[in-house]
Amino acid sequence: MKRDFIDLWNLDPDEAWYLVKRTKEIKEKRNSLKGLLNNKTVALLFTKPSTRTRVSFEVAVYELGGNSIFLMENHLQLIRGEDVKDTARALSRYVDCVVIRTHSHSWLEEFARWATVPVINGLTEKSHPCQILSDVFTLYERFKDNIKNIKIAYVGDGNNICNTWIVAAGLFGLNLFVGTPEELAPDSFYLQAGLDLCNFTGGNIYLTVNPLEAVKDADVIYTDVWFSMGENRKEEKLAILKDFQVNTRLLSKAKNEAVVMHCLPAKKGEEITEDIFEKFADFIFLQAENRLHTQKALLEFLFIQQ
Ligand code: CP
Ligand code: NVA
Repeated sequence: MKRDFIDLWNLDPDEAWYLVKRTKEIKEKRNSLKGLLNNKTVALLFTKPSTRTRVSFEVAVYELGGNSIFLMENHLQLIRGEDVKDTARALSRYVDCVVIRTHSHSWLEEFARWATVPVINGLTEKSHPCQILSDVFTLYERFKDNIKNIKIAYVGDGNNICNTWIVAAGLFGLNLFVGTPEELAPDSFYLQAGLDLCNFTGGNIYLTVNPLEAVKDADVIYTDVWFSMGENRKEEKLAILKDFQVNTRLLSKAKNEAVVMHCLPAKKGEEITEDIFEKFADFIFLQAENRLHTQKALLEFLFIQQ
C-alpha cells in the first residue's frame, strides 16, 4: 500500500516522532543514505512559486541517489484541461513519487486518490505539512525532550501554516497558543483534528484574539506572511493584523531567551520587523536548512513503507 503525506494526520504520533529522530541521524551523517533512491524518480508538480520546497526536495533526491523532474503546470496538458485523474494515472506509470504544490487542497486529494505512487503535499491553501514537520525537528534540536513543556506561540494570519501548526501540536503533544484576529481564525476542520489528537498525546491548543496573551512567557514565537500566495493584498487585512506584528514590543512579553521562527518567505515590515528578523536570522535559516534533512527522512519513510 502506498503512503501519501498530505496532512500531518497521515502519520500517527509514533511515526511522527520516529521521523523527527531519524532526521537527527540523517543530518549528522549527511551523505550516509546515498543509494536509497537509486533508479527512483521523484516528480515535483508545482503551480505556485517556491524557493525552499523545490530546492530542498531536488537536493534531497539527488543526495539520496535519485532523479527529480520539475514540472510546472503550464508546461503540462493540465493547462489545456486534461483531467487531474488522468494526469495522476499517467505520471504514476513513470515516476515513483509526486510532490505537489498547488492552491487547491481538494485538487491535491483528488490527484492522490488516483495516483498509485506516494503523493507529498508541498503546500496548498490549507496546509504545509513538510514545513511544520521540519519546524518541529528544529525545535527538537534546540529543546530536546523539553519540547513538550515549552510554550509555542503562533501569531498572525490563520492560514495554511497556522492550520498545520495546530495539527502538529496535537500530533506531537505540544503546547500551542494561536493568536489571530477573530476574522482570520484558523480552519475549523484542522482545529478539530488538532484537538482530537491532543486527547491522545496530551497536547494543548489555545486560541486567542489577543496577540499579547498568545506570546506572554512564550519560548517560541512563530509567524508567517499576512498575504499568502494567490491572495490579493487588502488594506483592510493589514489594519486588522497590525497588532499581530512580531516586533520589539511583542517580543518583550515573551521569555527573555525566546526564539522567533518564520517559514519564509518573509515580508519585512508587515508580519515581522527587519530588526527582529535579523536578530533571529540564524535560527530562521536553520529552519530553512532543516527542510532538506527532514524531507530525506520522509522520502526514506514513504519508500520503505511501499
Ligand atoms: N517555506 C517554504 O515552503 O518556502 P518556499 O515557498 O520558498 O518553498
Ligand atoms: N502562507 C504562505 C506560506 C509560504 C511558505 C503561503 O501560502 O504563501
